Amino acid sequence: MEIEQLSHGLSDRLPALVSVALFTIAVYIVSSLWNEKSTFPLLGADDGNATQRRKEYMTNAAKLYQKGYEIFRHQAYRMTTLNGERIVVPLEALEELRSMPDDVVDNVIGLNREIESKYTGLVNESGFAAHMVRSDLTRSLNRINPELAAEAEQTVHEVLGPCDDWTPQVAFNQLLRVVAIVSGRIFLGPDLCRREEYIYASTMYTVDVFKAVRKLKAWNQYLRPIVQYFIPELKTLVEHRRKARAFLAPVIEERKEAMKNGGDLSDDMLQWMMNKAESNGVSDGRLAELQLDLSLAAIHTTTMAVTDILCDIVIRPDLVDELRAEIKQVMGNHDGVLTTQALYEMKLLDSVMRESQRWNPISQSRFPRYIAKPVTLKDGTQIPAGMFIETAIGPVNHDPKLYPEPDVFDPYRFHDLRNATKPDPINYKTREQYQFVTVTKENMGFGYGKHACPGRFFAANEIKLIMIHILLQYNLRMPNGATERYSRVVQGAHEAPNPTIKIEFKRVQSTT
Ligand code: HEM
Repeated sequence: MEIEQLSHGLSDRLPALVSVALFTIAVYIVSSLWNEKSTFPLLGADDGNATQRRKEYMTNAAKLYQKGYEIFRHQAYRMTTLNGERIVVPLEALEELRSMPDDVVDNVIGLNREIESKYTGLVNESGFAAHMVRSDLTRSLNRINPELAAEAEQTVHEVLGPCDDWTPQVAFNQLLRVVAIVSGRIFLGPDLCRREEYIYASTMYTVDVFKAVRKLKAWNQYLRPIVQYFIPELKTLVEHRRKARAFLAPVIEERKEAMKNGGDLSDDMLQWMMNKAESNGVSDGRLAELQLDLSLAAIHTTTMAVTDILCDIVIRPDLVDELRAEIKQVMGNHDGVLTTQALYEMKLLDSVMRESQRWNPISQSRFPRYIAKPVTLKDGTQIPAGMFIETAIGPVNHDPKLYPEPDVFDPYRFHDLRNATKPDPINYKTREQYQFVTVTKENMGFGYGKHACPGRFFAANEIKLIMIHILLQYNLRMPNGATERYSRVVQGAHEAPNPTIKIEFKRVQSTT
């Protein structure tokens, strides 16, 4: 039956597949010719052909980037990745590249390759979402913080439950729901953020995108035009977008009426986007899809960060106590109110978040960009147009010159640097550059340059609020008395906390 279906499907698609195959072969030949002419040294040139190097990258990307960092520390080199060949540029080149205009160092084409947008249908052309996050969301943080804090408190309690005794929970799934609802409060407002249709879409869209991307990247890029027809998640993504449009159509209609008639307007991302939609040529359908795009950028990334932080602290009970003490002390100084200033003052929590991000990058590479026009760097390096570049962050995060004793998880590392009780190895202009949200070339957890993550200020507050309410409401422990940190899952450059791991929670007994 399955074979019958497959052959039926194949005969329907044969003409398309043949054209795609011919195109693929042509691209492959052109690209091989270019590679032969490339002057950049190739990492692992003696380790086999491109297919073998790609296979090695699939399981050992971190080691390969480390090797590249050691051999070509101040020089650009070529590397075979799951996205084909990349030029890996050294840190010092980033200073120059980041200030070049977008029509020279293009962010969109680079990111589109990362997320396989040609096949996943993810649109990243306008920068509208990034603009909205940068302008309206980040500027509203002080105003929306009380809402965010209340939502975090309620949602953590609802999702993790009473836990009168030690209760094992699949950390990632539970946190995904918490993050979806808390973020949704600001994206869509207090009612819609709790609707199951929203929660399902905002969490599963991301899951299906990742599944589709993972399946696509398991194949050589030249085979992806054909393989796409056999990846069901790609069809699911189309369905997600259709449902999102249908779900939000009446909401958008109602809000438009209110805008026309001078009614009360909501104070959330959908409304802020609607206020600017017309002047930016954004249709109602696209507005709905943008909510999915926003979920994709915001919800999984934030969930991974919180899960990794929990994995780091659950094996350090003293640290849990110290974090709680800081939270209580700062809250005491602010009459129990979690203002943005109070969050800023939680420097140990901030330091733990940054140390966790240093240890647990979600990708070994950063700054995926497309060179649209030829570039010549100050040291004479020439990067021809048509090349994809990136930089490695794993080895930077563990460089002893930048982070002394890099292989120690030091929760106080950035706390002490900010308080100037430790010498600053990087010699930043201000110690505040050791905050979680500060992007530098030595700290690229949120990317680098003008397209660095605009949502990081919101993410930082959200992560802190969720962590605060977990720590205030629950005790944590590893199942079966385990003391080792959970390992993460790896595919090529991408790394994530294991989504199946369990952490045990028990409600903190009230002392009053
Ligand atoms: C811990 C959580 C997060 C992490 C680790 C993260 C990481 C990143 C990274 C690495 C980039 C690419 C930057 C570059 O290429 O230089 C990015 C871009 C982006 N992120 Fe985040 N992000 C997080 C949370 C969020 C949140 C909460 C939002 C929205 C509220 C958001 C919205 C965006 C947008 C719109 C872009 C595209 C920026 C552009 O194209 O100019 N992110 N993020």
